[in-house]
Amino acid sequence: MKTMKTIEKTVKDIIKKYDGDKTAMIAILQDVQEELRYLPKEALTSISKKMEVPLTRIYEIATFYNAFSLKPRGKYVIEVCAGTACHVQGGSNLMDRLERDMGVACGETTKDKMFTLEEVRCLGCCSLAPVVRIGADVHPYLTQDEIPKIMRNYK
Ligand code: FES
Repeated sequence: MKTMKTIEKTVKDIIKKYDGDKTAMIAILQDVQEELRYLPKEALTSISKKMEVPLTRIYEIATFYNAFSLKPRGKYVIEVCAGTACHVQGGSNLMDRLERDMGVACGETTKDKMFTLEEVRCLGCCSLAPVVRIGADVHPYLTQDEIPKIMRNYK
């Protein structure tokens, strides 16, 4: 976990990159989240002070967009597609299996902070259904039985 000083430095460097431009708030939050894996309260408070933007306004933005997370996330985010194409091809079975194998519910992070399990609406590759994305890797035509083998590659 990043220390307070590291969060301060991360925020400072990212704000500098955008020249403190208040209209770049979404990009700033994206960069902070990429760096810290989520948006900790300390980071939002620091952004608020440094950019002189009310903390409530920053929270409004951070909670409006699904891509932002205020809760710690794992090193890898596992996104199980629940879009129509994936659903009819058994996507919900994949979620059940992952929840069972990992011992966490959808939306939660494993204790070792390696994985966060999430459901998404469509990953934009419906012809490959059912699809699960782990980090940047898309796993097409996935079956429940393939899950343990795939997960081993991320440990
Ligand atoms: S519905 Fe799953 S990728 Fe589109």
